[in-house]
Amino acid sequence: MAVNGIETTAAWRTLTALAGRSRDLHLRDLFAADARRAAGFSLAHDGLLLDYSKQRVTTEIMTALNALWEIADVPGWMEKMRAGEAINTSEGRAVRHMALRDPEPPAEVRAVLGKMRRFCEAVHGGDWRGGSGEAISDVVNIGIGGSDLGPKMATQALAACHQLQLRVHYVSNLDAAHLATTLAPLNPRSTLFVVASKTFTTQETMSNARSARHWIVAALGEAAVSRHFVAVSTNFKEVAKFGIDPDNIFEFWDWVGGRYSLWSAIGLPLALAVGFANFEAFLAGGHAMDRHFFTAPPQSNLPALLALLGIWNIDFLGAETLAVLPYSQSLEHLPRYLQQLEMESNGKRVGRNGLPLAYSTAPVVWGEAGTNGQHAFYQLLHQGGRLIPCDFIALKQPDFVLSGNTPHHAALLANCFAQSEALMRGKTLDEASRELASAGMTAEAVAQLAPFKVFPGNQPSSTLLLPRLDAYTLGQLIALYEHKTFVQGIVWGLNSFDQWGVEYGKQLAVRLLPLLEGGVASGDALDSSTAALIAACRVTPHDR
Ligand code: F6P
Repeated sequence: MAVNGIETTAAWRTLTALAGRSRDLHLRDLFAADARRAAGFSLAHDGLLLDYSKQRVTTEIMTALNALWEIADVPGWMEKMRAGEAINTSEGRAVRHMALRDPEPPAEVRAVLGKMRRFCEAVHGGDWRGGSGEAISDVVNIGIGGSDLGPKMATQALAACHQLQLRVHYVSNLDAAHLATTLAPLNPRSTLFVVASKTFTTQETMSNARSARHWIVAALGEAAVSRHFVAVSTNFKEVAKFGIDPDNIFEFWDWVGGRYSLWSAIGLPLALAVGFANFEAFLAGGHAMDRHFFTAPPQSNLPALLALLGIWNIDFLGAETLAVLPYSQSLEHLPRYLQQLEMESNGKRVGRNGLPLAYSTAPVVWGEAGTNGQHAFYQLLHQGGRLIPCDFIALKQPDFVLSGNTPHHAALLANCFAQSEALMRGKTLDEASRELASAGMTAEAVAQLAPFKVFPGNQPSSTLLLPRLDAYTLGQLIALYEHKTFVQGIVWGLNSFDQWGVEYGKQLAVRLLPLLEGGVASGDALDSSTAALIAACRVTPHDR
């Protein structure tokens, strides 16, 4: 089959027909018709429970979706990935992040893991000291995109495991406000910078790293740099040019994509935050998910189910977004992390052969930790009239317990399950009217108010219940979404591992910088809007 010919297959046509026939299906009717729906549309594996009974699917639809697994040859592509074939064709690279979490990793991976372990122990034990002899109290990771979002998300997720003697901070934004406000309370004598960049050429990271270096040199002198800077990169030449001691480089490789790099030395700040044993447990969780992904048939394969349900919602029901709603403050950064994972991987308009795709690909991924989101955007989920599939993520056991008897966790779970129930069930005009009447309202008042109290429901969601939020479970969770993204990319026939879409804006910014610094434009003339905006930024006497 041609790579992006999946829309011409009988399976795709069957799914289109099923979507047409299912337009009038309402989730509340599906539940009413089958008392065992939850059991039939859920999957438990290695402590995780995925309940997808609130998705708008039937057994017939699931069977048709599962057929895409073979038709798109997902197993064949999995093997190519595992064998180290250059499946990132537009960059000519292999995709081998799974090797980073293999209990028997390649020798070069094992060597870097050993170096990371020794470094973590030295920092935690106070053997690694700053230039003036002080132990390290604060680590600042300077990176962006995959060199920031993963370790930042995971550091927050594992807040309950933090090494108390060390605080880990993340700086990514080119805006000086990010570095300035992070450094303000820190002491240069006890601050260690991790400059994390696969290419070591990224403008944001290099600008922040240069300013951080200036901060250290101004306080402690040039000689202190080697005690206050380490680098994580694939580009030794650029790291050396920047002036970081070659002994202080933690290597990774071009076969690790930026957004899949948390498992590599990019995870160093995470390992510093939670200790190396927890980092190893994180790798073990990821590997356990790899084993499951490679062995389970699609109907009982967690990544496959998430991927195929997403394809159903996007390509057959017409959903344009996916709301990720973790009912866990510690997973606050997960939606942002998944934005890069899914949107940078699968936000593509052409297939692997360069031809335009005839269907929608990655959804707009967004979200917020519950219950905060409930007080911000859930109104639109319930009554805004758009189809917005949701991934609810909840923890069976809390990661933090406060003293006193306030039932934080039970209330959190109650809110999570109530929201997915309300989104599924909705409330009819009849039900709303009866409710108001039984509260003692007059018939006239009921008629006036009831339309505002109607909830259409039928909003699809999955709920992923994690046993707890520890390093192993987090590893499972992240690898689950990675493989989900992989399966979708294969079914959509695209290359999930390049990101040409981020290049153009970068190119134009390079051209505009001299103008904003008062110089002259090079290359083509500017459009009138860009020229006027630049002109408006010239500081005038009125600005003072
Ligand atoms: O956003 C584009 C991108 O290339 C990402 O894929 C990557 O994670 C990020 O920039 C940072 O790149 P680097 O690690 O090379 O600084």
